[in-house]
Amino acid sequence: MSMRKLLGLCVIVLWTGAQPAIATRQAVLSAAVLHTQQVACPGYVASNVSNTDDGFMAELALAGPPCALYGKDIKRLTLDVRFDTKNRLHVHIKDTDGHQFQIPKDVLVLDSGHGVRNTSSNLRFDHFHDDVSGFGFRVSRGDQVIFDTVGHPLIFEDQYIEVTSNLPVDANIYGMGESPDFFRRNPANTTKTLWNRGSPDLFQQNVYGSHSIYMELRDSQFHGTYLHNSHGMDIILTNSTIQYRVLGGTADFYFFSGPSALDVIDQYTELVGRPSRIPYWALGFHNCRYGYKSVYEVNDVIANYSKANIPLEVAWTDIDYMDGTRDFTFDPVNFPLAEMQKQLAYLHARGQKMVLITDPAILYDNSSYGVYARGHEQDVFIKNADGSEFIGQVWPGYTVFPDWFARNTSSWWSGELKRYFDQLPIDGMWIDMNEAASFCTGSCGTGKPAGSIPPYPWTLDPQPPHRVINPSDTFLVPPYAIHNYEVELSDLTIETTARHANGVSEYHVHNLYGHMESKATRDFLVNYRPNQRPFILSRSTFAGSGALVSHWTGDNSASWKDLHISIASSFDFGIFGIPMVGADICGFFGNTTEELCARWIEVGAFYPFSRVHSALAYSPQEIYRWESVAEAGRRALRVRYALLPYFYTNYQRSVENGWPVARPLIFEFPHVPAVVDNDRQLLVGDGILVSPVLVEGATSVAAFFPVGIWYDWYDYSVIKGTNDIVTLSAPLEHVNVHVRGGKIVPTQEPSMTTAESRKNDFGLVVAVDEHGAATGELYVDDGETFDTAARWVQFSYAKKSLSIGQRSGQFKISPLLSKLVLLGVTGVSQVVVNGSSVNVNFKVVNGSTVITGLNIDLNVNSVVALN
Ligand SMILES: *[C@@H]1O[C@H](CO)[C@@H](O)[C@H](O)[C@H]1NC(C)=O
Ligand SMILES: *[C@@H]1O[C@H](CO)[C@@H](O)[C@H](O)[C@H]1NC(C)=O
Ligand SMILES: *[C@@H]1O[C@H](CO)[C@@H](O)[C@H](O)[C@H]1NC(C)=O
Ligand SMILES: *[C@@H]1O[C@H](CO)[C@@H](O)[C@H](O)[C@H]1NC(C)=O
Ligand SMILES: *[C@@H]1O[C@H](CO)[C@@H](O)[C@H](O)[C@H]1NC(C)=O
Ligand SMILES: *[C@@H]1O[C@H](CO)[C@@H](O)[C@H](O)[C@H]1NC(C)=O
Ligand SMILES: *[C@@H]1O[C@H](CO)[C@@H](O)[C@H](O)[C@H]1NC(C)=O
Ligand SMILES: *[C@@H]1O[C@H](CO)[C@@H](O)[C@H](O)[C@H]1NC(C)=O
Ligand SMILES: *[C@@H]1O[C@H](CO)[C@@H](O)[C@H](O)[C@H]1NC(C)=O
Ligand SMILES: *[C@@H]1O[C@H](CO)[C@@H](O)[C@H](O)[C@H]1NC(C)=O
Repeated sequence: MSMRKLLGLCVIVLWTGAQPAIATRQAVLSAAVLHTQQVACPGYVASNVSNTDDGFMAELALAGPPCALYGKDIKRLTLDVRFDTKNRLHVHIKDTDGHQFQIPKDVLVLDSGHGVRNTSSNLRFDHFHDDVSGFGFRVSRGDQVIFDTVGHPLIFEDQYIEVTSNLPVDANIYGMGESPDFFRRNPANTTKTLWNRGSPDLFQQNVYGSHSIYMELRDSQFHGTYLHNSHGMDIILTNSTIQYRVLGGTADFYFFSGPSALDVIDQYTELVGRPSRIPYWALGFHNCRYGYKSVYEVNDVIANYSKANIPLEVAWTDIDYMDGTRDFTFDPVNFPLAEMQKQLAYLHARGQKMVLITDPAILYDNSSYGVYARGHEQDVFIKNADGSEFIGQVWPGYTVFPDWFARNTSSWWSGELKRYFDQLPIDGMWIDMNEAASFCTGSCGTGKPAGSIPPYPWTLDPQPPHRVINPSDTFLVPPYAIHNYEVELSDLTIETTARHANGVSEYHVHNLYGHMESKATRDFLVNYRPNQRPFILSRSTFAGSGALVSHWTGDNSASWKDLHISIASSFDFGIFGIPMVGADICGFFGNTTEELCARWIEVGAFYPFSRVHSALAYSPQEIYRWESVAEAGRRALRVRYALLPYFYTNYQRSVENGWPVARPLIFEFPHVPAVVDNDRQLLVGDGILVSPVLVEGATSVAAFFPVGIWYDWYDYSVIKGTNDIVTLSAPLEHVNVHVRGGKIVPTQEPSMTTAESRKNDFGLVVAVDEHGAATGELYVDDGETFDTAARWVQFSYAKKSLSIGQRSGQFKISPLLSKLVLLGVTGVSQVVVNGSSVNVNFKVVNGSTVITGLNIDLNVNSVVALN
């Protein structure tokens, strides 16, 4: 959901009203660009270079008079270079005195690697000096220089760090966000601003999370760069450079050598944390809406999905269920606890699940709201500089915000969650508004009576004026203005001058808020339900949040453009190490249309996280509402549910190696320049290609097919890929899905829940390549616990013989393998399992053979000859 469900659209209006303020600030922004070019900063000179076993250190001294571009130049820096692993190089430039803020180790634990000799690294580090720009460095992989600051002076000031690296002309850059955009960033003109912002998905603007990693594709190989820094920043692509402009901290870079896209993500998630394991049910289909009037209406929704024969796995409720939108309460009239308990029991009896929303903002009410009173007692809320509680405004009224740095916050948060879960043991949590979002700017509740409920600013006429802030406070108004959509850093969030218990200002840690809430929330769930994998969906994330939570792409709109962009956003979060991601199907804001919603469920059925969600005041869009959408949903979800074992196997690849589930073609076909910017098709894993319609009125789709054999999922017809576009027929209720020749994809017969589907027989789709061969794998465990047994099974097919081999694990797979779909194989008349002929049924369809009636135990090795 949720924020600015309403506010979202209104905020745009509000800002139109505030145009003068923006204009002034934007003038400052353009001046900033000129300034950078005009003021010659002296750069640094390296000295005292000392080699260590696995890297080296040097001192950097300011090479001339301070330029004071956007702060105070720091005179003495230390360069610390370490070859962490064969594939990862750490280059840290920090102030020698150690005053600059760095992300505390307990907020984000980075892997330290083991240290390798420079000669055994895939990357090479060299430093240089030139008389104009001073110290510069190059990172190379073989004869490719992948990062090159030579010729660009390093600027290192207390509130401004600038690092610039050369890029090739027309570079292929991916990542850097969160920002709704096309997948390939425009190398000539991109500014990605990292400043978490709780408002609608605005094209190319900064939104909820901060991920300062990018990947570059050059000569068919990928490499990656991550800047470990929590401050607000701009990352700018222009004129064959990438430039970082950062509001503080240190220049803490990590370089990853790739060379495949999956290698880079593997190397990155090894550093920041592998994606967390998820319960199997999270891969089912989810329904939500902001604006359900009662628990009874949600009961009807659940029943109507069932009547429509659409597999609803999880029923979600947005802030509607709360009493006065206060956390951990239930509306006594419309969502009484007893009825919520009944709904949960009903869902559980049918193998379905419930997830509810929680916001971090706590109503400031010291007389009747125990959640606040207990937190106040434990001193867990963020403070103003004068020591009073910082009071913003969110859904329930004036609110305070948990300070995740305070000593007792996680125990208080756990205590509140425990009271809540003891009443209603829901299956997962949805943490929203955690950028953190506020509806006013500054501590607007200070001095207001406790428990008083102000009107939402967007309901006022005239709109409240834009706040006047003291420009001499450089935390409120840093000398360099990043391109934050809200303009001022403190707008509609916790003020940057607010203080945390460890004495740190919000200025430094703003971007960590959602990540820290995610950690506190996960810690609670892991303790509350030992050995059960939590499912948590968070709107705000930071580097490494994938180890804690899943993500949806926030408050999008019911537009064809947002449908298209949703695919790129899923790819972005694959790079960010948060592979469990999806967009609000059919669009959140705005009235969707029947056609858009049908096309959207056809894409959404293949998001790793598949949930329909809509906003208050817009027409309902549960997918049973229109017959064509229901039919599109049934068909596409039938494919998804058949593929659940494949999705789950791929998700386990994410857990073990970081590999994303939803992949762009360029990740699998880096030698094919035509797909560098393809974000209109998506691969699930490496074997399933989805080519959806993203254009209104279209009944066909121009889909790109790389060289190889591609089999239609439904009728097995063949496309011989030639690295060219093929026009596919795409009637409204049909989404094109192809299986890649050379891959073996495990399936199960789909049922109405994931739990039922898991009990059904397995099948294998064996899609042979031009040599008549294919390989694949299957991962199975209990889908719920942590220290469960697991089993990896591998499949290979060649010369009309399928080998089923055990790779590892002891988990007992109960369902049998009963079906083989041999795509591109005919002429089979006999099946021999381990030397014994077995009785089966054959059907030949469009050059493929479907065999049913097998009874193969997947827990043992076997050889299936297809004679
Ligand atoms: C280099 O090392 C020497 C001796 O340890 C020390 O006196 C000097 O200050 C160092 N120079 C810098 C720039 O740190
Ligand atoms: C590798 O380290 C050695 C000293 O341990 C040093 O002499 C050599 O220059 C380094 N090579 C590179 C490429 O940095
Ligand atoms: C760069 O992008 C911005 C934002 O999209 C746009 O306003 C501007 O005109 C573009 N500049 C150029 C030179 O294309
Ligand atoms: C990029 O290069 C063009 C042409 O040389 C120049 O006009 C422009 O100012 C440069 N832009 C930046 C941001 O450096
Ligand atoms: C459920 O379906 C019934 C019968 O079609 C319809 O009257 C009702 O409005 C639907 N309710 C919801 C919440 O979808
Ligand atoms: C935190 O909790 C401990 C034990 O419950 C208590 O002694 C301490 O005073 C609390 N700290 C604060 C800052 O309230
Ligand atoms: C609650 O806050 C009000 C100020 O808004 C204060 O006057 C009152 O004493 C507080 N009550 C308690 C019990 O702390
Ligand atoms: C959206 O649909 C509702 C009816 O469901 C209607 O009242 C409203 O005016 C529509 N809004 C827009 C922006 O079209
Ligand atoms: C075989 O493929 C063609 C498309 O090439 C399709 O029209 C036909 O329905 C398929 N046959 C069957 C039996 O699925
Ligand atoms: C097939 O043979 C292998 C190796 O001889 C054996 O381990 C396995 O149990 C047999 N599988 C079946 C299904 O009999």
